[in-house]
Amino acid sequence: MLQTFASPISTLLDARAEGHSLPAGLYTREDVFEADLEVFFRRHWICIGLECDVPEPGDATVVDIGKTSLILLRDDDGEIRVMHNVCRHRGARLLDPGKTIVSKLVCPYHTWTYELTGELSYAPHMGKGFDKECRSLKPVAFRSVGGLIYVCLSDSPPEDIGRLVDVMAERLAPYDIRSAKVAYETDVVERGNWKLTIENNRECYHCSANHPELCVSFVDLDFGFDPDALSPEDRAQAEEHFALYEERTKQWEADGYPSAAVEQLLDCTTNFRTQRLIISGAGESQTPDATAASAKLLGTMSRKDLGDMHLWGHNSWNHFMGDHAVVSIVIPLSADRTLVRTKWLVHKDAVEGVDYDLEKLTNVWIATTDQDAELVARSHAGVEDPAYVPGPYSPFSETNLDKFASWYIDRMRAHGY
Ligand code: FES
Ligand SMILES: [Fe+2]
Repeated sequence: MLQTFASPISTLLDARAEGHSLPAGLYTREDVFEADLEVFFRRHWICIGLECDVPEPGDATVVDIGKTSLILLRDDDGEIRVMHNVCRHRGARLLDPGKTIVSKLVCPYHTWTYELTGELSYAPHMGKGFDKECRSLKPVAFRSVGGLIYVCLSDSPPEDIGRLVDVMAERLAPYDIRSAKVAYETDVVERGNWKLTIENNRECYHCSANHPELCVSFVDLDFGFDPDALSPEDRAQAEEHFALYEERTKQWEADGYPSAAVEQLLDCTTNFRTQRLIISGAGESQTPDATAASAKLLGTMSRKDLGDMHLWGHNSWNHFMGDHAVVSIVIPLSADRTLVRTKWLVHKDAVEGVDYDLEKLTNVWIATTDQDAELVARSHAGVEDPAYVPGPYSPFSETNLDKFASWYIDRMRAHGY
């Protein structure tokens, strides 16, 4: 079916066939991109950063999403605040993108000055009747998901964030992500639509052909496989692996570490999945040899054999391991450009070169992220080709993509498209 630029977005949504990737226009069109930003990045909860991005009072970081710019900071009382980076005088940006340290927020334009709570404290030459009280910086709704900062830019944030907060509060408690240290951070701009970035992350069908570093510690079978496609030896190995899951999950849970899969991927507003996964090989961490990169473990962790607690959102993926965590945040830049911001976390007192080796810590996910950027670019280029028609997802290895695409269509419809 021919989809022209004139066809409404609803026509593209109607054209999506179950079990198949999305019609091209949903990945490539500018009007769809604008709709995506509005629906998925303003009216849903999105991850923008971490409490530990701003460990000390006065630490601030600016995160831009579309035309919106947010200030995440820690105020003088140690409380996290998220505010719009828009001066209440004539709207100038207060802070530039990136990290900074502030004692007050001073607008560079006419020096209106705000406390770290957002209250306006200084606005010269505005006359006697001027009411500073009603000119505080606009606060943004946010929740801490075990130390990950989720915001919602709508006036009526979806309430089902509560389940995510509850599930992850318990799971992440021993990792104490709130007070971890960001040991390293990268920004990679993928040459593709944000939904291709997310789809790529939700399957490991491509792992064995593309991620030699990750495959040392990651088990691609965990994200689905066709038993009939395996040789008898591989099938026996797969059965052994899943028997081990049952045993490990039982043991981990008996030891007080929630591990079983929890997911809300369909018929929901807030999209997430979490499960404690087995780490392959040496079994400790996603490093080149699967042993821990940091001798000092995260939070109050005393064990390196608790696998990889994974967490997906619709704009993030995370791996929490005994010695470190990897947090990736997805921010769409345009229909064909997506920022993937990745942060490596270690215990707050872990010292580089003493407790951990930065190369060992970051090697696997730097390589994997670069490889994925290449795959997303290939995928986007093909989707832009007039020869593209939506193809079938593997009913074994890509069921989570089918769910993501179905959730996407549902949410677009729920918002009137
Ligand atoms: S725009 Fe900020 S002080 Fe004027
Ligand atoms: Fe990948």
